[in-house]
Amino acid sequence: MSELQDLLVLEHVTKVFESREGRNVVAVNDVSLSIRKGELITLLGPSGCGKTTTLRLIAGFELPTRGRILLEGQDIAYLPPNKREMGMVFQSYALFPHLSVFENIAYGLRLRRLSKEEIEQRVRTFMALVNLTGLEQRKPAALSGGQQQRVALARAMAIRPRVLLFDEPLSNLDAKLRVALRAEIRQIQQRLGITSVYVTHDQSEAMALSDRIVVMNEGRVEQVGTPEEVYHRPATLFVADFVGRANFLPVEVLQLENTHAIVQFAGKRLCTPAHPDVRPNKPAVLMVRPEAIRLTSHALESNDALDGVVRNVAFLGHYVEYELTWDQHVLSVEDESLPGRLFRQGERVRWYFDPERAFVLPKR
Ligand SMILES: Nc1ncnc2c1ncn2[C@@H]1O[C@H](COP(=O)(O)OP(=O)(O)O)[C@@H](O)[C@H]1O
Ligand SMILES: [Mg+2]
Repeated sequence: MSELQDLLVLEHVTKVFESREGRNVVAVNDVSLSIRKGELITLLGPSGCGKTTTLRLIAGFELPTRGRILLEGQDIAYLPPNKREMGMVFQSYALFPHLSVFENIAYGLRLRRLSKEEIEQRVRTFMALVNLTGLEQRKPAALSGGQQQRVALARAMAIRPRVLLFDEPLSNLDAKLRVALRAEIRQIQQRLGITSVYVTHDQSEAMALSDRIVVMNEGRVEQVGTPEEVYHRPATLFVADFVGRANFLPVEVLQLENTHAIVQFAGKRLCTPAHPDVRPNKPAVLMVRPEAIRLTSHALESNDALDGVVRNVAFLGHYVEYELTWDQHVLSVEDESLPGRLFRQGERVRWYFDPERAFVLPKR
């Protein structure tokens, strides 16, 4: 990728806090990232992994202990937040309760001393964009959570920020609204081409929204990749485990063949896609996603199938979730939902998978 496309660049950014007990907490540890113009990149990871701190460093609410933050080539690490031309949307909405919807959205425009006409026009444009037209004179308290977050979104976009920052904006909303609003955010972001950094701990939200995902763990970047890469070609065991669900099966790596490895699994040889760091005779595991496992009834003979026993069944309508015991392992399986096909608890089944849908990872 050319440098010119990189709008926002973090170079070896580290943030160390001093805790109340006087201990040093490394919240962000040597993070390097390039965010391209117009893309939506998500910082994804468990609570406490440094997502919010990274976002606050970008916004200017925190100063880095080490490293550089560049916006279109200019080092902004010590520029105050109001000089960075960034918009921010928080989980808590952070609206002014005494101001109307119109005035909330107009606030940043008045600070920038835009003309009355320009303010009027921009507020109307962005209210229409987030489907709030008609609610200009309402106070935030008279709006639903979803509507309040739309106001926050319109307010952040109305200043025409160079970068839009989101910190878990949908976490306070119920599941259905979350899914609807994330699709809307994605549509608006793409339509306007707003470069965005989006923080979430919700992996399905990250996958649904993002051009690229940055998976973080303990202040570090574990992987940067498209949702597909992160899901099917995880860089680390942590990513494989955090993004989606995964079964980890014991394998022995015999030899490498380009992008694949020949592995010994359950007494058989398989040729399966492999992580670039996999080496023969080094500890490794085979990742098989629950939806890659196929079940068949015991009576049907298949050479490649293994024996298992159904330990738990959850019929979820669009698929069936099984827990299967095999050897000393418990496997998660997502099976097709077909009429008359449900396997029962305690039933013996046979299971198999296409080796192309598995992935060998080094065990660290
Ligand atoms: N102001 C602060 N002072 C001390 N420690 C902090 C401060 N802000 C964050 N931390 C610590 O830094 C780590 C990362 O926090 P945060 O960036 O909020 O994580 P996330 O947003 O991924 O949940 C945590 O261990 C947190 O306790
Ligand atoms: Mg956070």
